[in-house]
Amino acid sequence: MATYDLIVIGAGPGGYVCAIRAAQLGLKVGVAEGRATLGGTCLNVGCIPSKALLHATHELHEANHNFAKMGLMVQPPQVDWARMLSYKDEVIAGNTGGIEFLFKKNKIDWIKGFASIPSPGQVRVGDDVHEAKAIVIASGSQSSTLPGVTVDEEVIITSTGALTLGAIPKTLVVIGAGVIGLEMGSVYARLGAKVTVVEYLDQITPGMDGEVAKQFQRILQKQGLTFVLGTAVQGVERTATGAIVVHKSRKSEEEARIEADVVLVATGRKPYVDGLGLDALGIQMTQRGQIATDARFATNIPGVYAIGDVREGPMLAHKAEDEGMAMAEVLAGQHGHVNYAVIPSVIYTTPEVASVGLTEEQLKAEGRAYKVGKFPFMGNARAKAVFQADGFVKILADKATDRILGAHVIGPMAGDLIHEVAVAMEFGAAAEDLARTCHAHPTFSEAMREAALACGDGAIHA
Ligand code: FAD
Ligand code: NAI
Repeated sequence: MATYDLIVIGAGPGGYVCAIRAAQLGLKVGVAEGRATLGGTCLNVGCIPSKALLHATHELHEANHNFAKMGLMVQPPQVDWARMLSYKDEVIAGNTGGIEFLFKKNKIDWIKGFASIPSPGQVRVGDDVHEAKAIVIASGSQSSTLPGVTVDEEVIITSTGALTLGAIPKTLVVIGAGVIGLEMGSVYARLGAKVTVVEYLDQITPGMDGEVAKQFQRILQKQGLTFVLGTAVQGVERTATGAIVVHKSRKSEEEARIEADVVLVATGRKPYVDGLGLDALGIQMTQRGQIATDARFATNIPGVYAIGDVREGPMLAHKAEDEGMAMAEVLAGQHGHVNYAVIPSVIYTTPEVASVGLTEEQLKAEGRAYKVGKFPFMGNARAKAVFQADGFVKILADKATDRILGAHVIGPMAGDLIHEVAVAMEFGAAAEDLARTCHAHPTFSEAMREAALACGDGAIHA
């Protein structure tokens, strides 16, 4: 039993970042976390393990498809699945251990166990009740399933099961062509599984710039993924050897069935608030089951705040982290702020897909006058050299002022390249500012500059 300035509930990217920044700003901080390791969904069963498997299988793809082109003559690699999973576990352990080290360094107490809030200013973990001037709920999210689908994490799985399968399936049906479906679908397609993705809407990755989404779908199809779009899953039945996915076309209403060894349900995530005692506390929730907060993350109960996946906004680790930092600054009497207009999003497939700011569809809907600067990676020497010229950069700028309004990239290192535009947007830059900035040759980033040039007098290499 102890008294704190701040107790954070949940040690994911939102919670642990909030705790570290608050400690740096001089607050006495405790963090309640019920998992055996710190880092939340992201480090344990999300961003980090999925990127480890994406990396390993990308290397496999390179060895199988591109090594010989460069004169690297090797035997086709054998996949040791158990070893690949332990590599992934080692990556997780390195990262979660790193957070534990940072907690010690910043003198943050890890209060081990699942917490509830019996009353404002109090956090209960097991039999202990701790006092806190401020409580930040950063309890994250969990996979949401569909009616008629019972997840067992062996045959009918969520992303969590997809990170620990006992064997590589020969056939995989993915329900949902969103981020998880396409990242994990890519992992198993590269490992040799026949992957079919069933999506309710008529395009993959809803919300993404339409042109990019189309190109992305074409590239994934070339990589062997099959898409069944405009189709609603009715249910999934277990069989002796796997499962059958029953789905219905939204246009023709025709019903069809696909058999698979494994079915991955990737239809979104929902806030996780179980066991916190929010009802009894009288915390207001939104219609979507998120904790309702104001712009400074305050709930309707004084002294209780919420950040990350459990409140509104994109369910992204870096959004949670930014809220964590801003939250700590608010609690320390500073002016914490998150610019929600400039939050990049990245899909870590090959090629990567990244975007920041508005899409062309959003600009059209808003009736904004805009211009488009596009540049294909085919005109980028470095991308051609590494067999990754199949993509493009698209920069959208205000027609009158040239101010950058958004950028969409499909191509090599898109997830890193996008930050050039994110920084430019934070500074209110014009496309010409980017176009006039010298970019090193030969780098992928030259494609960003060329797209910016294309917003003006034209790209050089197109
Ligand atoms: P979480 O990371 O969910 O952490 C919440 C923590 O709170 C958990 O550890 C939980 O155990 C704990 N907790 C909950 N209730 C209690 C309680 N009562 N007491 C104590 N502890 C409690 N985002 C990206 O930006 N990039 C990616 O590449 C990416 N990849 C992803 C891949 C997958 C497969 C998944 C599932 C998600 C991915 N995400 C990615 C999303 C990202 O993981 C989340 O947006 C991020 O983890 C949210 O952080 P958070 O701090 O809000 O919550
Ligand atoms: P998502 O929201 O990205 O995609 C879900 C997809 O399922 C949508 O395309 C939706 O139309 C479809 N769908 C819903 N119901 C359906 C049905 N009955 N039949 C067929 N399709 C259906 O959700 P996803 O992929 O589960 O990811 C959850 C969250 O995790 C996302 O918010 C994402 O931001 C985050 N995440 C981020 C990553 C990254 O930043 N690289 C990686 C993985 C997850």
